[in-house]
Amino acid sequence: MSSPAAGKPDTPSCTSCHTTNLARAGQARAGKTIEPLAPSVVPTRLSDPATVDKWLRRNCPDVLGRECSAAERADLVAFLIGQ
Ligand code: HEC
Repeated sequence: MSSPAAGKPDTPSCTSCHTTNLARAGQARAGKTIEPLAPSVVPTRLSDPATVDKWLRRNCPDVLGRECSAAERADLVAFLIGQ
């Protein structure tokens, strides 16, 4: 997100893996394809709170060097659900 990032150098932002176009597929570090995050394209996205939680617990530290707060998670989900 904002710099200087405290997360891993190869993942300075969420877009490092998910790209800036959430309707398109992204790519993880190992080159594995990630299905689009936009629920308008992949309806199962954001439909399971446990899945969202699990991934944010992993992705936030990768990018920010810390967990996302409850408010940040709520903001992220609210934003992503509209995509
Ligand atoms: C290192 C690559 C990487 C980074 C960086 C990353 N993600 Fe992800 N993300 C993934 C992978 C891999 C998955 C799980 C595979 C999948 O769901 O296709 C995932 C899954 C998710 C999910 C679960 C979606 C669902 O309901 O199915 C959300 C939400 C998400 N990421 C949001 C974020 C946000 C927000 C950030 C930035 C804080 C971020 N990601 C950064 C790789 C990444």
